[in-house]
Amino acid sequence: MDEKSPRGSGNRTRKSGPKPGPKKAGGGTKRQSADRKRVFKRDDDEPQMRRRGDSKAGKSRGRKHEPVPIYDHEVRFDKNEPVRLNKYIAAAGVCSRREADSLIEQGKVTVNGVVIREMGQKVMVKDKILVDGQEVRPEEFVYILLNKPKNTISTTDDERDRRTVLDVIEKATGKRVYPVGRLDRNTTGLMLLTNDGELAHRLMHPSYKIRKVYQVETNMVLSDEQITALRNGVQLEDGPARAYRVDRHPVLANVIRMSIIEGRNHQVKRMISAVNAEVISLKRVIYAGLEIDDLRSGKWRSLSRKEIFQLRQLVKLLDKKTLNL
Ligand code: URA
Repeated sequence: MDEKSPRGSGNRTRKSGPKPGPKKAGGGTKRQSADRKRVFKRDDDEPQMRRRGDSKAGKSRGRKHEPVPIYDHEVRFDKNEPVRLNKYIAAAGVCSRREADSLIEQGKVTVNGVVIREMGQKVMVKDKILVDGQEVRPEEFVYILLNKPKNTISTTDDERDRRTVLDVIEKATGKRVYPVGRLDRNTTGLMLLTNDGELAHRLMHPSYKIRKVYQVETNMVLSDEQITALRNGVQLEDGPARAYRVDRHPVLANVIRMSIIEGRNHQVKRMISAVNAEVISLKRVIYAGLEIDDLRSGKWRSLSRKEIFQLRQLVKLLDKKTLNL
């Protein structure tokens, strides 16, 4: 599965991405060469042809003193303010608020030893909350952007003891984080991990139409007809699927960049197979406006406050109150 995790755009589009159409290796106009730099950053998993000294995308130019927003997670747990039980549980990274409501309804939640079934119940930070007998505590949210290496699985544990993305970020945080969505074992690239249950749930929910961009190396040079078919939509066993955008690599003839909104099981591989080609390598380069940039394979970084703010805006998790306006 790509996006459906067992737990639980303003999409920043690249305004000047490469133009579609085949390009000659090594040749090209000034603009194509600028695109090449901007689009394909150095990474251990890229098919070939890396460039050194790529400038970091998204650098703010000129504006030195951007206001720093106050985030939801920094203001919500005032120890003197009651907070809704479902929000408290979601903030502990257990699940989304809606899933918390369902746990409450099923009688799986106790507050100071008393089973609570009432929706909208409020609690204080000092209360003792158990979910399924386990104490849960909201903790500061952490957001980690990983460049997932090959041969790692994106579940939290594996019965066959294979290496997971949690093993890769082992020392990133003392907190328990969860992958937002899934990537296949051999898919590389951008994976977000967080303990912010509500944000994760919304990012994976189809209604927020989160854009994912994949760099796809295929076993052949796709024809214009094959590319058009991907854009117009192909038939998969579980219904039609289309690419929101497909661009050819400015240099490598057998590499495309494909944007999709849904996150169905092996969706990119199945779409490529539906146009009678095969995926040789697959890397996610953009997720929800976040870009992998020049983060090397197996490396991670924390999201900046600005990125967290943008993500929360994208899935409508910011309001005036949480911004202290
Ligand atoms: N599509 C796939 O086929 N695999 C992935 O890992 C992600 C998207």
